[in-house]
Amino acid sequence: MTTEQTLIIGANSNIGKAIAAHIQASENTGLILISRGLVGSDSVTSETLADNVTKIMLKDYQSQSIDQAITFLAQHDHVPITRVFVCNGILHNDTIQPEKRLEDFDAQAFMEVITSNTLTPMLWIQKLTPLLTGKSPCKFVLFSARVGSISDNRLGGWYSYRASKAALNMMVKTAAIEFARRAKNIKLIAFHPGTTDTPLSKPFQKNVPANKLFTSAFVAKQLLDIVEKAPLDQTASYLDWQGKVINW
Ligand SMILES: NC(=O)c1ccc[n+]([C@@H]2O[C@H](COP(=O)([O-])OP(=O)(O)OC[C@H]3O[C@@H](n4cnc5c(N)ncnc54)[C@H](OP(=O)(O)O)[C@@H]3O)[C@@H](O)[C@H]2O)c1
Repeated sequence: MTTEQTLIIGANSNIGKAIAAHIQASENTGLILISRGLVGSDSVTSETLADNVTKIMLKDYQSQSIDQAITFLAQHDHVPITRVFVCNGILHNDTIQPEKRLEDFDAQAFMEVITSNTLTPMLWIQKLTPLLTGKSPCKFVLFSARVGSISDNRLGGWYSYRASKAALNMMVKTAAIEFARRAKNIKLIAFHPGTTDTPLSKPFQKNVPANKLFTSAFVAKQLLDIVEKAPLDQTASYLDWQGKVINW
């Protein structure tokens, strides 16, 4: 019988898929995967992929679609969710490239990056909290990046991505202060996976030494160990793939 569940949001992420694969191979835990990929007029649909794996598909990550996913979770699932991974994040796409200089900054691109990297994760923190507040501990991981550290910024560039991850970090830190009062069972972790071989990092891998370019499977294993060991200490943590603290 499944007694706890793990929720992976942005589950099409390469690292998210590796987390799911690792859990399926090694644990008897229920898995809920949330991702975009819905075509047609429905806002949310679900399918059972295996005995203990449910996939929820959304049209997009707008507030209304997230509300519908939350309603679905509240109605269908009464097994406690003890781990959440919010993997969402974009660095580039067909029309967006990280800025090298001020002249590259573009208002529309900034709005897109901050929407997927900051607003979407923040909406999940906000809307999931009522489902997670209870007796069971819940470790809640938000994928950040070291470039979101204000104190670590020595290279410059990548204005939108840096700012969006710095803003995410501030949301995480601020929510943890509120959780210390009203949701003591939730531990928030802003996580830096290191440079990982995924579509997000593909165009930027050429100067990365081979031993510093990680596979998603390696990062997933590291992260699951970090989550396992993380104490419920009513404080937000900003950690890298080794479990080392990053200065905000
Ligand atoms: N790879 C790296 O080297 C690296 C380094 C530092 C930090 N990170 C962070 O790690 C996380 C996972 O990245 P990854 O490398 O696994 O990337 P990936 O395979 O390219 O996955 C992209 C993720 O972003 C979501 N996404 C794409 N477009 C979106 C949009 N418009 N709005 C909201 N969400 C959107 C996807 O969700 P769907 O499932 O719905 O498609 C998926 O979760 C990201 O937050 C990234 O910033 C990665």
